[in-house]
Amino acid sequence: MAILKFPENFAWGTAISAFQTEMGNSKDRNPKTDWDVWANSGDIISKKLVSGDNPEDGDGFWDMYKTDLDNAKKIGLNSFRMSIEWARIFPDATFDIPANIKKNENNTITAIDLNDKSLLQMGKIADKDSVNHYIDIFNYARSLGMNVLLTLYHWPLPLWLHDPVNCHLNIQNTDKNGWLNDQTLIEFGKYTLYASKVFSKYVDIWETINEPEVISFNGYFYGDESGFLPGLNNLELAVQVLHNLALAHNIAYKNIKKFTSVPVGFGIAPQYREAGNSKPETIEYVKFMNYMGSDWFINAAVNGYFDNDIDMVIDKKENDIGNTDYIGIDYYSRETYVYDDNSANNIVKLPCKNCTDFDWDIYPPGIRSVLNWIYEKYRFPLYILENGIADSSDSKRKEYIKEHIKELWNAINIDKIPVKGYYHWSLIDNFEWAKGYGMRFGLFEVDYQNKKRKIRPSAYVYKEICESNGLKL
Ligand code: BGC
Repeated sequence: MAILKFPENFAWGTAISAFQTEMGNSKDRNPKTDWDVWANSGDIISKKLVSGDNPEDGDGFWDMYKTDLDNAKKIGLNSFRMSIEWARIFPDATFDIPANIKKNENNTITAIDLNDKSLLQMGKIADKDSVNHYIDIFNYARSLGMNVLLTLYHWPLPLWLHDPVNCHLNIQNTDKNGWLNDQTLIEFGKYTLYASKVFSKYVDIWETINEPEVISFNGYFYGDESGFLPGLNNLELAVQVLHNLALAHNIAYKNIKKFTSVPVGFGIAPQYREAGNSKPETIEYVKFMNYMGSDWFINAAVNGYFDNDIDMVIDKKENDIGNTDYIGIDYYSRETYVYDDNSANNIVKLPCKNCTDFDWDIYPPGIRSVLNWIYEKYRFPLYILENGIADSSDSKRKEYIKEHIKELWNAINIDKIPVKGYYHWSLIDNFEWAKGYGMRFGLFEVDYQNKKRKIRPSAYVYKEICESNGLKL
């Protein structure tokens, strides 16, 4: 039997996010985020933008983290990816604490710093119980021999920065407009500095922001289809948000590095997009989607190159912007498009061939292709920070895992792409944003009534890979 061996020290993990897993018991309720308000809003539910499932009925990871980390250990992980919730640490506004705001010659914010007194003040208003609870979680993971990959921002904003329902109804007249507002950047700088200070001892790899392009496009351009807050269809706003998230990454990167020298990067989700026919319009569209879905942000975040009029030509190099140690890739599926004069938007996405419960098209060679694309262009070490399948019956997950990991091995060993780790999405079933609890991505099934976790057969397949640092063929 052949075995495809992975490099020594390869990170084998799973990924979860705070909002999608923490709540589940009434005392875990964290009502101070925009996503919580959005998912619970009667208006938004009745427009069918979201499922109506309540995020507070979820996994209860906040209380049950030991069970979940024990399970993670049992399936052989050596690394654990999770995120922290900004609003748990700062449930109340940090506006009053003065920051040093650094700008470049174009008046673009390039750094946010706090003097010792301000940093102390941040500590005074931070929620100590939450900070200590996160430290307990990191310590427990480390005591089991897993290192910690921490995402600082996996989507929800504190309510004191974003009122998603009013933004949905009247974006022009809502002051709390989240990532459209420079104030959010400034507060993000304060939060990331404080979080780096208190958590850097326990974290082995940092991710600043998860999928900035999903936040901006799903929320501000495909808002009526995706159900992502604030549910808008405005390309200009989507680009403005993406722009600010690139600045936010740069600010956070610098802040984390004040306390640690471990790798810091961001995560993006370049799917395998292909043209379903050879019409030039189809081919151009696919190129444009790849560009907006990945290259636009990467150019800005790693080089300070901005293309604000989105003509696929860089308009501006911003000084004092451009930092990363690695690029995180979240790969799930293939998307096939065709240009069609008769459809409403001229572009049709073809139905999946080998479908997940989400109707995403399973396509393992895509992971290799995407890794080649991003590495050829940007030359940074890469991590697969997410890869997984909504499959409640667990009938396709085993094959999904094996086939993607085989292609990952090809990328590392044949194409010589420096991929440093693989994180499966997800350890446990969780709250799938606008879709709620219907989509089940977990290696462990969760019964949301009694919070019991049950291992799925596919988890044993992943366990064997992690424990042997290889894939048996
Ligand atoms: C996100 C996760 C999400 C997963 C499956 C990724 O885009 O980071 O939060 O649950 O995909 O949709």
